[in-house]
Amino acid sequence: MSPKPVHTVESDAARHVAIIMDGNGRWAKARGLPRTFGHRAGVNALKRTVEAAPDYGVQWLTVFGFSTENWRRPATEVSELMKLMKAYVSSDLDRLAREGVRVHVIGRRDNLTRDILDVIDRAESSTRHNDRFHLQVAFNYGGRADIADAARRYAAAVLSGETPADDGDAEALFQRYLSTAEGPPVDLIIRTSGERRLSNFLLWEAAYAELVFQDVLWPDYGPEALGAAIAEYQARERRYGGAEVDDVLAAG
Ligand code: IPE
Ligand code: IPE
Ligand code: MG
Repeated sequence: MSPKPVHTVESDAARHVAIIMDGNGRWAKARGLPRTFGHRAGVNALKRTVEAAPDYGVQWLTVFGFSTENWRRPATEVSELMKLMKAYVSSDLDRLAREGVRVHVIGRRDNLTRDILDVIDRAESSTRHNDRFHLQVAFNYGGRADIADAARRYAAAVLSGETPADDGDAEALFQRYLSTAEGPPVDLIIRTSGERRLSNFLLWEAAYAELVFQDVLWPDYGPEALGAAIAEYQARERRYGGAEVDDVLAAG
């Protein structure tokens, strides 16, 4: 057996997986159905995926539910997505809470309606003592907005004297102000539907995440597709800018 490279970190455990759940509209269109049917089917895919994730060693699952750019969609579609967020929490919160899942919701709160804010508060507060598994929902989330908001909070904390302007590790200090600060580093970002872009998801956190793009449309997603993405992740070698030990030796 060849020795393990010392400059690399084993990518075995995908502890924190993030998913851009894409393709609901195309799934519906292929069936001659309105886009909203695709979103409803997408909620079932989310349920299947959340259920399966711990079996693959995933401890944190972050899902992109609504982006800061999704307000550009027709009002009827936006309102359906808001309704589904409420319906998902209403139908699944008790079970999630019972099963030891802690729910986190990241994203801007300012332009969400009171009913959505109430649902978010209820989901977070009724699961806050759980830690078997973390489901982090990015809702009204944008990576740039999150970095800009973090910069604003960081500046305010420096001005008030609560935080030093510099403690020698600027990245670690700044990162504490991102909405994702609580979770472990993102190991794997999956995007479904064949699109190959981040669409403003987890921009800071994506720095050294592995990216896996799958052709499956989100409503068809489930344990099998998640397993395939994780297998692909496990076959990768994460170098973080370092070099493989064999190459280092060969280079003298
Ligand atoms: C993803 O599916 C769901 C959200 C963006 C909320 P889409 O609605 O983007 O589906 P496509 O990309 O149009 O097929
Ligand atoms: C990203 O998908 C947002 C979510 C999955 C919630 P989009 O479908 O909105 O992204 P674009 O428009 O294809 O870049
Ligand atoms: Mg899309």
